Amino acid sequence: MDLILKNVHAADPQTGLDCVTDIAVKDGKIVKIGDCGGSAERVIDCTGLYAVPGLFDMHVHFRDPGLTYKEDIFTGAAAAKAGGVTGVLLMPNSKPACDTPKTVKYILDKGAQTGINVYTSACITEGMSGGGLCDYEALKNAGVFAITDDGRPVENAELMRQALELSVTNGMTVLSHCEDLKIINGGIINKGEVSKALGVKGMDRASEDYITARETALAASCGAHIHICHVSTYGSVNIIRAAKRDGVNVTCETAPHYFTYTDEKLYSRDADYRMSPPLRTEKDRAAIEEALLDGTIDCIITDHAPHAAEEKADFLKAPNGVVGLETSLAATLTKLYHGGKCGIGKIAELMSVNPRRVLGLPPVKIEEGAECELCIFDPEAEWTVEPEKLHSKSKNTVFKGETFKGRAVYTICRGKIVFDRKEDENVT
Ligand code: DOR
Ligand code: ZN
Repeated sequence: MDLILKNVHAADPQTGLDCVTDIAVKDGKIVKIGDCGGSAERVIDCTGLYAVPGLFDMHVHFRDPGLTYKEDIFTGAAAAKAGGVTGVLLMPNSKPACDTPKTVKYILDKGAQTGINVYTSACITEGMSGGGLCDYEALKNAGVFAITDDGRPVENAELMRQALELSVTNGMTVLSHCEDLKIINGGIINKGEVSKALGVKGMDRASEDYITARETALAASCGAHIHICHVSTYGSVNIIRAAKRDGVNVTCETAPHYFTYTDEKLYSRDADYRMSPPLRTEKDRAAIEEALLDGTIDCIITDHAPHAAEEKADFLKAPNGVVGLETSLAATLTKLYHGGKCGIGKIAELMSVNPRRVLGLPPVKIEEGAECELCIFDPEAEWTVEPEKLHSKSKNTVFKGETFKGRAVYTICRGKIVFDRKEDENVT
């Protein structure tokens, strides 16, 4: 036996597994669940720890190629591993943008060296220009199964309709960054009391609601699957809930900062609290939380968006985005599990099961014979977020100074321990 995890609380909503047991691993596979004795190359006492299928973050920016001073595929993957994440979907707004098989190959080849599963999306329009559509068939053959111009919307609705039609032919999922740029009109934080008090231009919530409504209407008309990125408004939640009820093939995601914080954080005039879409109001935050619990929102993602400290220094001019891979599980456990809103099984659904389902990837299960891909975490570990200790090259976290309860301890991918908190703390 290569590895035995002793006395771990294994939870997999897909198989109904939810008990304290041992897990034995050999040649990358789970070979036994049950009493496994103690004879293996490595035996880990997991008393008090949970094991869930490895987390999958379907919305991350690794800035590679071209913007590697912010992050690269290896440092991004290191952040993922430290957060219990064994699979990621990269957004295509690198430099050049990921819109050709050549760039896809560069990313996937480098990703294959990380020890976790790195996938990439590609652009909807060439260079994310909003102009001509990319060659989806060629991208599909290069290994792409999701397209998006994330970072911006496809402004031309007819072009988006055509992309959705082609996505059906090519069996791809379209991910949409829902923000109408004309309504945003240079705004930098949520438009409301806080933007007024600070005297800065606001981003009207209608910018998000309007494009969410447009995308669900277009997807319905094409019979296509649309996935709405980083939902932040109650309006968007209501549109998606109604569309799902009507049988539209729509799925969506949100990030921990949207169900943890509101735009009151911006009173600090600190650009580390700026992202797009922006932190909204308590009414939005509560609606996002409710939608996570009632199944309207399918996935928790991070929108991990690294930016250099110099870029974030100026509140008004800083680019939007926050890192999140190393805090996502902790923030979710703290807010939803310790907040008494849901159990570990639901969190596994939101962070592990549903993202793979939405993307049409094979499920990762905790069962005998399955490839061993696990996130092992201590639900009770208390820790405070110190940005300088993050593995990401950039430290622009919205959770700096926050104390969380719950943290990834071991991350296992293809049967290999790719992250071990104790070892990591001794090295760094
Ligand atoms: O805040 C954001 N930052 N939102 C996005 O959609 C893009 C991202 C980035 O690439 O920095
Ligand atoms: Zn986006």
